[in-house]
Amino acid sequence: MSTNGQTSRPDRNLALELVRVTEAAALAAARMVGRGDKEGADQAAVDAMRAVLDSVSMDGVVVIGEGEKDEAPMLYNGERVGDGSQPEVDVAVDPLEGTRLTALGMPSALAVIALGPRGSMFDPGPCFYMEKIAGGPDIADLLDLDRPLPETLQLIAERKGRDIRDVMVVMLDRERHNDAMREVREAGARVRLILDGDVSAAMLAVSENSSVDLLWGIGGTPEGVISAAAIKCIGGQLLGRLWPRNDEERQASIDAGYDLERVLNCDDLIAGDDCFFSATGVTDGDVLEGVRYQSDRSASTESMVMRSRSGTVRRISARHDRTKLRALVAGRYG
Ligand code: FBP
Repeated sequence: MSTNGQTSRPDRNLALELVRVTEAAALAAARMVGRGDKEGADQAAVDAMRAVLDSVSMDGVVVIGEGEKDEAPMLYNGERVGDGSQPEVDVAVDPLEGTRLTALGMPSALAVIALGPRGSMFDPGPCFYMEKIAGGPDIADLLDLDRPLPETLQLIAERKGRDIRDVMVVMLDRERHNDAMREVREAGARVRLILDGDVSAAMLAVSENSSVDLLWGIGGTPEGVISAAAIKCIGGQLLGRLWPRNDEERQASIDAGYDLERVLNCDDLIAGDDCFFSATGVTDGDVLEGVRYQSDRSASTESMVMRSRSGTVRRISARHDRTKLRALVAGRYG
C-alpha cells in the first residue's frame, strides 16, 4: 500500500509478513489431521493465527472472520488485529479452509488470509452462500452466471482449441449441484467433485497448466471474497451472486441493502489493486503441499504468497524447528 502516492518505488509487501500467520495456523491444524475433530482442528488454527497476527505491522479490522463477536471469541467480525501501525486494512481470515477435510485427513485443506485497503472488502452480510464461476485469464470474458453451463463449456472448449470432452469443471459435491452435474456430463464434459474447499478449487481453476478449466457452483460467500483476492493476484476472474438459502435470509439481505440480482466480479468483492494473500497447505493438495514432519524436531510447510499490485506470486517452502517453536510460542503450534 503506497502511502506516499509514488508508484516507482517498491514498498512493503505485507504478504511476506502474512506467511508467518498462515504457517502458524497450518502447523497447528496439521496436528489434528485425521483426528475426526473438525471443531478442534479449527480451534487450533484460530488460536495459532490469532497469536501471530498481532505481530504484523498493520491496523487491521476483520471483515471476514469466524462469525459474530458473541459466537467467536477470536477473529470475530469487527475485531481489530495487527500491531496498530499503518496501513489501515480490511482482513479476511479462514484459519482452516476445509475443517472436514482436515478432520478426515483428506486433500486440499488450507490456512488462508487476505488483506485489502480499509473499506475495500465486500461484507457478505446475512447471505451465507453465493453462486460462483471462475476461470483463468484466457476464458475470463466467457464467464457468465446466466448462460446455461453446457454452452459456456462449449465456448471454453473452442477458446482452448479442445473438444468439450477434454474440459474439466470442479464443483462441490452437493445435492444442490445435481442438475448442473448431470447437464455437464450430458454435454460430454468432465466433472471433478470435491468434498469441501472451494478456495483451493478456485485457485486451481485459474492456475496455468491446471487440470481444471472452470470452478462452478454454490459455495460460501466469505470463501468467494477470499478467492477473489487470490484471483486478483494470480489473474483470471470470478463472478459471484448472492444465493439466499431461504426466505428469511433473502429478506434479511434485502433489508440490509444487498442487491440479490447483482453479479459481482473480483473488483466488487475486493476493490482496488492492492490486496495481499497468503495460503499455507495443511493437507496435500493440487495447489499446495501439506505440512510434513521430518522428525520430532522438524516440520516443513509450503505457502503461496502474493500481491495484486505487482502480480508477484511466490511459493515459500519453510522448514520449522519444532523444538524452538514450542519454546517460543508455548507449544501452541510446534
Ligand atoms: P469450512 O472449512 O468452513 O468447513 O468450509 C468448507 C467449504 O467447503 C468451503 O470451501 C465452501 O465454500 C463451503 O464450505 C460450502 O459450504 P457447505 O459445506 O455448506 O456446502
